[in-house]
Parts: sequence; C-alpha cells; structure tokens
Amino acid sequence: MSVVEHAKGLPAPVIEFENISITLGGRPILRDVSISIGEGEIFCIVGRSGVGKSVMIKQLVGLLHPDEGSIRFKGREVVGMDDAALQNLRKECGMVFQHATLFDSMSCIENVALPIRRHQRLKPHHARERALMYMAEVGIEHLAEKDPATLGPGLRKLVAIARTLTMEPRAILFDEPTTGLDPLAARKFDELVTGTLAGANMTQVVVSHDVRSIFDIANKIAMLHEGRLRFLGTPGELETSNDAVVRNFILGQPGEE
Ligand SMILES: Nc1ncnc2c1ncn2[C@@H]1O[C@H](COP(=O)(O)OP(=O)(O)O)[C@@H](O)[C@H]1O
Ligand SMILES: [Mg+2]
Repeated sequence: MSVVEHAKGLPAPVIEFENISITLGGRPILRDVSISIGEGEIFCIVGRSGVGKSVMIKQLVGLLHPDEGSIRFKGREVVGMDDAALQNLRKECGMVFQHATLFDSMSCIENVALPIRRHQRLKPHHARERALMYMAEVGIEHLAEKDPATLGPGLRKLVAIARTLTMEPRAILFDEPTTGLDPLAARKFDELVTGTLAGANMTQVVVSHDVRSIFDIANKIAMLHEGRLRFLGTPGELETSNDAVVRNFILGQPGEE
C-alpha cells in the first residue's frame, strides 16, 4: 500500500495477490490478477462458475501454486513457503470449504474440538470447554451433542465455521458459503459475517457465484471474468457499473452465463 493510501486511512493490507497467473491442466485459468484485501474487510470474489474463484483462494493457503506473481499474507510471501510455514499460515488464515467436511462418527462438539486437541494438546474437558465457547459464538451451542449427520447443510456449515474459529484465525476464507442453504440459513450466515465476525475485526473473503447474495455483506467486491479481474470496487460501484459484462452478470443474463 502506498503512503498516499495510508494517509487516506485505508486499512493495512492483510492479503495481497500481485500479478497472479496460473495454468491448470494445460488451460490458463487466471491471468495477471491483482487484489489487495485490507484488515477487517469483508471482501467478496464473484464470477460465473468455473472462472477460477476457488483456485484464487486455494492459492492463498498453498493448496495451489501460481505460475507467476506474488501472494502475501500479512506481508509474508506465500508462494514457495515450506510445509511448516504453510501449516502456521493455515492457522492464521482459516478456510471453510464449500462442503463442510465433518466426521459423522463424532458429535458436533467433538468435531469442533478436533483442531484444539490436535494443535493445543489440551486435556479433553478443556478442549470441550473451548469448543463450546466457539459454538456459542456462532450461536449453535445447543447442537453440542448432536450427530452432524442429523443436521441440514446450514447448521453443518456453522459447525465447520466454529471448528475453523478454534484456531483463532485473523482471516477466514469462505468458499460458496450459502450455496445449497435455504434462505433462512443463508441469512444466519450473513448475520454471522456482518455481526460477530466483523465485530472481531476478522478479515473475511467470501467467494460466491451469486452476486445478489453478497450485496448485503460486502465492503468490497472483485469480479473475475475470462481469467482476468474485470471489476474491483464497492457494492454501490458494482451496481452502477456501465460495463456490459458486469451488468449482464448482475442481471443474470444468459449471454454471460
Ligand atoms: N487442481 C486442478 N487441476 C486442473 N484444473 C483445475 C484444478 N482446479 C481447478 N481447475 C479448473 O480451473 C477452473 C476454475 O475452477 P474453480 O476455481 O474451481 O472455479 P470456480 O470459479 O467455480 O470456483 C475450472 O475449469 C476447473 O476445472
Ligand atoms: Mg468454486
């Protein structure tokens, strides 16, 4: 970030993608994409299915590697990080995958407590106490003893989020968090993002192919199109964009789908 931007009081960047290009399976997926995400921002990445949104955030936690460019988390270069450094990074920058991968052989609280037990070596009852605290934070403490298999996708998502929060990340990445959720569950998610998590000044990256669903939560939106960054700005700027590609995407016209 330049001195001028600092002077304007913009938040310091936590996540920086600089001139990222990546080819997968012989196909160029992203070309020369640069995005900077400030501390405490709710930053949404949108674009039609298959455009490279998941690829984008997977690169940030070292699950995929760009061919060119630099990716920094709190100023640390992610590209080329060794496994030990990546493991630390993934504690600071939690990722909630599209499909909540819970162990159905364990209760919800046992699922949430897993990372605590693995990384902090707490006694089981202390781990449970901490797990319950994070479940309360996302409003699901009453599900502690439930079997995850009995829950719908919205509640499973909240269990997965509570589990991610136990690592006390400074940033959290959500991949299609509301896809497949009913409207009530989707609204619960939105409230969590704009309420509790924003209140904790968490930097949040939300990937979605449904632009309308993120208008309510985003501070800033990036739209990817044909491998490139097509739009970067506020929800208000997106809404009033004169770019035909952006307009078609917002209106969901089949020409751009
Ligand atoms: N590991 C991979 N190997 C090869 N191709 C991949 C891999 N991951 C994603 N792709 C391809 O990259 C493109 C973008 O995928 P993705 O980021 O998942 O899209 P979306 O924007 O829907 O999240 C797709 O064409 C997908 O098939
Ligand atoms: Mg995806």
